[in-house]
Amino acid sequence: MDKYSLSTANFTPPSVYADREKSIRLVRELLYAKYGESPKAFVHTYGCQGNVSDSEKIKGLLREMGYEFVSSPENADFVLFNTCAVREHAEDRVFGNVGALKPIKEKRRDMIIALCGCMMQQEHIAEKIKKSYPYVNIVFGTFAISRLPQMMYKCLSAGKRVFDVKEEKGAIDESLPVERDRGAKVWLPIMYGCDNFCSYCIVPYVRGRERSRTPENILNEAKELIAGGAKDITLLGQNVNSYGKNLDGNVNFASVLRMINALPGDFLIRFMTSHPKDCTYELLDAMAECGKVAKHLHLPVQSGNNRILGEMNRRYTREQYLDLIHYAKSKMPDLSITSDIIVGFPGETYSEFLDTVSLVKEVEYTSLFTFIYSKRKGTKAAEMDDPVPYEEKSKRFRELCAVQEEIAGRRTALMVGKTYRVLTEPNEKEGILTGRTQGNISIEFSGDDNLIGKFVNVKITKALTWILYGELC
Ligand code: SAH
Ligand code: SF4
Ligand code: F3S
Repeated sequence: MDKYSLSTANFTPPSVYADREKSIRLVRELLYAKYGESPKAFVHTYGCQGNVSDSEKIKGLLREMGYEFVSSPENADFVLFNTCAVREHAEDRVFGNVGALKPIKEKRRDMIIALCGCMMQQEHIAEKIKKSYPYVNIVFGTFAISRLPQMMYKCLSAGKRVFDVKEEKGAIDESLPVERDRGAKVWLPIMYGCDNFCSYCIVPYVRGRERSRTPENILNEAKELIAGGAKDITLLGQNVNSYGKNLDGNVNFASVLRMINALPGDFLIRFMTSHPKDCTYELLDAMAECGKVAKHLHLPVQSGNNRILGEMNRRYTREQYLDLIHYAKSKMPDLSITSDIIVGFPGETYSEFLDTVSLVKEVEYTSLFTFIYSKRKGTKAAEMDDPVPYEEKSKRFRELCAVQEEIAGRRTALMVGKTYRVLTEPNEKEGILTGRTQGNISIEFSGDDNLIGKFVNVKITKALTWILYGELC
């Protein structure tokens, strides 16, 4: 269907929109007849910020259908889990929590349970839910968010179980309402999907091909967010560095950064995630030159060994990665660099693992997200021999964490006595506020709640490995 083709990627077919609006109206009426007052919804999100951003759209639709939000499933009429499939552990947690809903539902028969997101986009999972979790009412994948009102209508009017997990090409629905958590920190998706097929990773299978939003749509949303008080905007995509590849014209991620940087206002621009194979000097120059762009580069390396990088299908070498890091540091002396690393990829030897350790020591990351390899059904790596026992992988994992801990401790100690400009966020402790450095390290300091959402200067007085303490200047 041409309407869904890439050349009209950001076009919402009017029929889809009309059906949705009609279903929203009908669901509202049904819910009103059933509950009288506002029905209650509980939404829980697993996984990455891409999922958090999707949940904001899901909540936007639920709000239009008349729901109010509550903070636990016990007293909700509608419960939705937006799930993540990236590692087995993430999936186990979802199954555990869905199991925990069963006794709640037994007490409250007309509660609707919905599961969506990356995990549900996998056929074998949707099948498992269909067979073994009969009390789940609605299951939909990452391509079906905009049809939630139609699914709700089917479920409420005919009492049917609804499954909508087909993959679709191309379309980005720009007409969805967004219900944001209040606060000055916001998410702004600039692209969806991933074309990279790293051999271990499920994301390309559950999120489909890369598609970029148009610069106009991004800019309009950025302006709206800034006008609404946003002070910390994170641009989202699985690989923001390949932004624009499916769009006409000469736009790339560096131009998006410059475009948003040029908007008036006092705000910080962050982005994630960057893939090293598409990270260019041009992008690093743009980062260095744009005053509003946080001097933080999250550049996942995954491994420091060239054979493993090849097996992972990452399409860069250790040397190319280090070259980017050296260039970035030379342009931005205060740059914080963070990364993702997988330990125990199938067939990784101890000496190959040590190449990762030596790379970590050479880069001196601010922090690391370290994962033990998790086999994902349907990926290429799932077919590879994996002879190293889990115990050995855990040992290597702990070894790497200890190396990073030492580096992080050394780096934070150097921050004592320096002053950082940070956006104030709430803290659970009475009279205490939180801020984050551009490299995302938390700083705790005393101050009044009326500073929340404002930029303040904080002088660091004490440093632990993962947290800083300071005082307002
Ligand atoms: N698009 C991002 C990462 C998305 S997933 C990127 O390419 O950088 C976040 C991280 O999860 C990955 O960087 C990787 O380190 C980890 N990850 C993905 N699949 C994994 C798997 N099968 N086992 C263990 N870790 C995995
Ligand atoms: Fe997964 Fe690789 Fe795509 Fe990141 S770039 S989402 S690791 S396939
Ligand atoms: Fe998980 Fe899907 Fe994000 S698999 S990491 S929620 S894209």
